[in-house]
Amino acid sequence: MILYFSGTGNSKYVANYLSDKLDDEMVSLNEVIKYNQKLDFTSIKPFIFVSPIYCWRYPKIIEDLISHSNLLGSNEVYCIATMGQDSGKAGKYLKKIVQSKGMIFKGFEGLLMPDNYVFSDKMATSEEIKYIFENLMPVLEDLRYQISKNQFIKTREKTHLASLKSGLINKQFNKYLLRNKVFTISKDCIGCTQCELLCPVNNIIMKDNHPVIGSNCIYCFSCIQHCPKEAINIRGQTENNGRYVCQEYKTK
Ligand SMILES: Cc1cc2nc3c(=O)[nH]c(=O)nc-3n(C[C@H](O)[C@H](O)[C@H](O)COP(=O)(O)O)c2cc1C
Repeated sequence: MILYFSGTGNSKYVANYLSDKLDDEMVSLNEVIKYNQKLDFTSIKPFIFVSPIYCWRYPKIIEDLISHSNLLGSNEVYCIATMGQDSGKAGKYLKKIVQSKGMIFKGFEGLLMPDNYVFSDKMATSEEIKYIFENLMPVLEDLRYQISKNQFIKTREKTHLASLKSGLINKQFNKYLLRNKVFTISKDCIGCTQCELLCPVNNIIMKDNHPVIGSNCIYCFSCIQHCPKEAINIRGQTENNGRYVCQEYKTK
């Protein structure tokens, strides 16, 4: 069973590829979270989580979900991440979570995909995106092969200052940065409700045909990136960075 979380479609793309090639079912954790569904999952095949990296770890909401879910049937778990640059020591934390459930951690792989961290980074050009996908495909195919043979994936996380990034900095990110932002909605908003529909934590509610953003944001950037009018921004941060959504899942 492939359980994926995705803000801008990269992780969904990987989940879909693995689902197709491994003939395995796919579960959207966006929907599980949004609709407050039960965290009971049963699979004969290994569980494969696919999620973006947020500040050198899986998003906290996904780490917590893995911790609290009942994974029945198979006792094996793979953790796959998509990322713009590096995953720090994300795999180390996931291994700990999986093993604390009494399950077998089959390994972690971080896949390089277009960066969607629009808060501070410029989004890739179409040429750059093409190049990234060309490089991704053989890695993804190799990963698919290893999983199909039920092999352990070798975790290759040895990046600069990884312990600090995934430890202290990640902690500060979850504690402070997520609360410290001001969303703006420009007059270009057409009230299409796409942002409300896509927000996995129901943090956006339409009022008088206008999105009102609450204080429960997890920073997936779905609302900003998918907005057909680029009307949603984080003040002073995202206005000039362009937009990115994985081609297959563009909603506009
Ligand atoms: C809040 C946030 C934090 C991020 N932090 C990292 C990071 O620490 N390292 C990295 O390589 N990419 C980072 N990224 C980029 C995403 O992990 C990457 O673009 C991912 O493929 C997006 O997946 P999605 O399209 O499924 O949402 C971050 C993105 C967001 C939104």
